[in-house]
Amino acid sequence: MKTMYWEDNQLYLLNQTKLPDEVSYYPCKTYQEVIKAIKTMVVRGAPAIGIAAAFAMALADIQDENLEKAARDIKESRPTAVNLFWAVDRIMDSDSPLDEALKMYEEDIKTNQLLGEIGSQIIEDGDTILTHCNAGALACVDYGTALGVIRAAFNSGKQIKVICDETRPLGQGARLSVWEMQQENIPVKLIVDSAAGYLMQQGKIDKVIIGADRVTRGGVANKIGSLMVALAAKRYNIPFYVAAPLSTFDTEKNIEEIVIEERGREEVLYYGKSRIAPKNTEVINPAFDIVPNDLITGIITEKGILEPI
Ligand code: MRU
Repeated sequence: MKTMYWEDNQLYLLNQTKLPDEVSYYPCKTYQEVIKAIKTMVVRGAPAIGIAAAFAMALADIQDENLEKAARDIKESRPTAVNLFWAVDRIMDSDSPLDEALKMYEEDIKTNQLLGEIGSQIIEDGDTILTHCNAGALACVDYGTALGVIRAAFNSGKQIKVICDETRPLGQGARLSVWEMQQENIPVKLIVDSAAGYLMQQGKIDKVIIGADRVTRGGVANKIGSLMVALAAKRYNIPFYVAAPLSTFDTEKNIEEIVIEERGREEVLYYGKSRIAPKNTEVINPAFDIVPNDLITGIITEKGILEPI
């Protein structure tokens, strides 16, 4: 199932806010509608945001909008995933925004399949793998990065089990990763975020694989909670891998320069429709954190397994 597709000069985005209960596509006729979809998490995950941004530029071109302005607006939609900036710049450098966006769409799938195949070599038969957030097909056009590695290992016949962190506050692990694994009958269990350390201590996790929003000099930005998982993995000598395409690398920036997105208080204050704290509670809601390089075993890319940069 594809996270997005292009038809009749419109972009259709699989509405991830409705998963796992409803599979429906959200049509975008204008680049402003794509910006809204990125901000409201209809589409999310670094590579998927990048390709959606590329199509947003194509829509701006079809709408006869000023492309410089569209590029600025699109870049303001979410600050942490570098793929968004990479994609907009690539379209700006191209002669034909739509042709380039369609090319990037196809490339994303091929890149992930290659990355998955390369990464599957680190997985042993019988491994139980912990993952955080959703770095799966839903976070890309298709196939996925961290879950792409798991998919490739499973499809090559390895008996593996997957443990998904719930990933509060928006539940990408519970709602999206578990759903994705179930679609392909890959054995999967869900845990609350705070159970990860205990399972590692009990020897129940063999490897951790997560995705990335930005790979920079000194560390990797990924969904909030990744740092705690990495710290626990280090404590219990569990290999901790990041799976990310080269489009997620930002070799210009140091770890301290990454902008970490702060999201609204409602995401923390509510669990679904139920409020879980007093109405007037002040909230801190960083959407990402940074895993320093010394906690990372390797970065799985389409060009091989690299040392952190
Ligand atoms: O806030 P989200 O859902 O966009 O965050 C997504 C993540 O943190 C993913 O792990 C990351 O983008 C990698 S996706 C291949």
